[in-house]
Amino acid sequence: MEEIKKIAILTSGGDCCGLNAVIESVTKTAIQKGYEVIGFESGYDGLYENKFVELTVNTVKHLGSRGGSILRNSNKTNLFNHRVKLEDGTVVYRDDSAVAIENLKKDNVDCLIIVGGDGSMTSARDFMRAGVKVVCIPKTIDNDVPYTDQTFGYSTAVASIADALSCVYTTGHSHDRIMVLEVMGRHAGWLALEGGIAGEADIIIIPEIPYSLEGIANKLIERYKRGHNSSIICVSEGAAPKDGEIISYQNNDYPDSVKLGGIGAKLAHDLERIVMPITNQEVRSTSLGYVQRGGNTNSFDKVLSFRYGSFAVEAIEKGEFGKMVALRGEELAMIPLINVVGDGPTGETSKGGNKNVNLDCDLIRCAKSMGIYLGE
Ligand code: F6P
Repeated sequence: MEEIKKIAILTSGGDCCGLNAVIESVTKTAIQKGYEVIGFESGYDGLYENKFVELTVNTVKHLGSRGGSILRNSNKTNLFNHRVKLEDGTVVYRDDSAVAIENLKKDNVDCLIIVGGDGSMTSARDFMRAGVKVVCIPKTIDNDVPYTDQTFGYSTAVASIADALSCVYTTGHSHDRIMVLEVMGRHAGWLALEGGIAGEADIIIIPEIPYSLEGIANKLIERYKRGHNSSIICVSEGAAPKDGEIISYQNNDYPDSVKLGGIGAKLAHDLERIVMPITNQEVRSTSLGYVQRGGNTNSFDKVLSFRYGSFAVEAIEKGEFGKMVALRGEELAMIPLINVVGDGPTGETSKGGNKNVNLDCDLIRCAKSMGIYLGE
């Protein structure tokens, strides 16, 4: 086995809480084991431009609670299908992975830790195919990465959603209103479901259960008739009506070009038209947006990130490359990247949303048995 002397780490995709904790734990563990550590800046962009910083125990001291990433993130770059604007303004897509591989050689990097979601791990798989030693750590507030029970960043986001629901509840209750909170999650409903349960929403709408407007309106009217002066709805940005489309917009300048958002406001308008004539309740919506992605990392995410980071370095020591660290029950395990992101063509960005809410899962059963409406 080739000796490992130097490890590089990069944080790719959208930011979330726990990235700095991973950087802290990778750096501390690696240095304890005698490895050097560098961090490429702004995800794969830094790898392409060869922009990095040296990471030391001092650089990462007490970093673990801070949200975001000191290395910064980028979710725009796929070096195997690199979008480049030429001097004359034309846009071309080309395979620039060789530049990155050359940089790794120049910097004497023996192994690269890629902290990211499914899109970033698809590129990691492609680098593995090109002969780079990679180890991945799954991050995303969406919790939609398969083969791991939980991604870090999710727990802090769930806690923010629960707090936000408590906040909108007080206005709903004081003004006899129906309050809608839109949360993130792309095509997976984990954030809305677990955040909605934690924040005691009365109705939770997730992408996995297409909704009927009449069904939600009937539930609201029924609640009003039973004496509830307000109701709280937690809706996932990827939710759609049974006979309609997800609300999204597209900007082809990004590899992950489809952006979701707006369903909360639409749902509020549509429901108000049906419900208000009967209950006299106004319907207001709030989109939680990036509040749920930032802030201080909670203890669960911090410890999970510390565990992921040190396990990744131990995996490198054992020569376990081309794998992702995963939480399986109480234990951590290494899962082949091919299982996680598939064996698709090099350069093709994963569309994501792989691990959806299983409608038989305990969270769904818990919500239903507590009387939370999830649709029919
Ligand atoms: O994947 C994490 C996430 O926050 C999603 O929940 C959301 O749809 C998306 O990123 C937003 O991404 P961006 O900040 O790039 O628009």
